[in-house]
Amino acid sequence: MRINWYPGHMNKARREIGKVMPKVDLLMEVLDARIPMSSENPLIPPLRGDKPFIKILNKADLADPNLTAQWVRHLEKQPGVKAIPIQKDRISEVKGLVTLARKMVPERRPGGRPMMAMILGIPNVGKSTLINTMIGRAIAKTGNKPAVTQQQARIKLGKDFVLLDTPGFLWPRLDPPECGYRLAVTGAVKDAVIEFDDIAFFAAEFMIKTYPSLLSVKYKLDVIPDTPLELLEAIAAKRGCVGKGGVVNLHKVSELFIRELRSGTMGRLSMERP
Ligand code: G4P
Repeated sequence: MRINWYPGHMNKARREIGKVMPKVDLLMEVLDARIPMSSENPLIPPLRGDKPFIKILNKADLADPNLTAQWVRHLEKQPGVKAIPIQKDRISEVKGLVTLARKMVPERRPGGRPMMAMILGIPNVGKSTLINTMIGRAIAKTGNKPAVTQQQARIKLGKDFVLLDTPGFLWPRLDPPECGYRLAVTGAVKDAVIEFDDIAFFAAEFMIKTYPSLLSVKYKLDVIPDTPLELLEAIAAKRGCVGKGGVVNLHKVSELFIRELRSGTMGRLSMERP
C-alpha cells in the first residue's frame, strides 16, 4: 500500500513549525494509543528543544491496557515528557490535561503573556473531539488536509491559556512501511485511498500472530487458520460474504474485518509495542 506525502508539503510544514515554535510554551500531541509510534509526527522531536511535552494516548478504550501502560513508561523516559492515556468519554480526565499543562510550565512568562500550548495530531486521531471536551464547546473542525496550512486556530482557555491548533502539521510516520498499514487499519488514512483487501491481509496476519484468542471469540472459530487468506475465508463463511458457487467475496469480507477491528468490537488491541 502506498501513501503519498509530498516533500514540498513536508518542508513547508517543517518551516511553519519552526516559525511558531519559539512562541510555544508546551506541546500536546494526540496519538492513537493503538499505534503510538505510527501516529507520531516525526517533524516534532527535532524541533521541540526541551519544551514540556504531553503525549496524549487517545482512544485508550480501544487499546490493549497492558501495552498502553508500557508505552506510558517508555515515553516518560524522555525528559520533560508526560504520557497520559485518554478516552473521549472520561470528561474529567480530558479537562485535567489543561491543569497538567499549567503545572508543567513555569508560572511567569516573559511580558506576562498567556501560556501557549500547541496541540497536534494526525487526522482522525480524535483531536477535535478532545479540544471540544477540553474547552466545553464545539469548535469548527480545522480540516484535515496534510500540511496545507490553513489558519492556525487560537483557542482561549481562560485569561492566561491559549491553545494553538495546527491543522497543517499532520504528517504521520511512514517509515518503516508497516506504519502506513497500521495507520490504514486504525482509520487514520482516508478509506478512499485504501485498498481494503491489501490492508485486511496485513491485519489478518497481525491478528493471527498477536491476538488469536480475540479472533476465536469474535468469529467463533475453534481453530485459528495459519494464513491470512484462510482466516478471511473462514470469516467470509461465517458472515455470508460468499457468492454463487461458493466464491468468497474477498473485498466484502476484507472491509467487514477492518471495520470490526477498528470499532473495538473484536476487543481491545494495540498494534505497536514500545
Ligand atoms: P480529528 O479531529 O483528529 O480528525 O478526529 P475527531 O475528533 O473527528 O475524531 C475521529 C473519530 O474518532 C470520531 O469518530 C470520534 O468519535 C472518534 N474518537 C475520538 N476520541 C475517541 C476515543 O477516545 N475513543 C474512541 N473509541 N473513539 C474516539 P467518528 O466515527 O468519525 O465520528 P462520530 O461517530 O463520533 O461522530
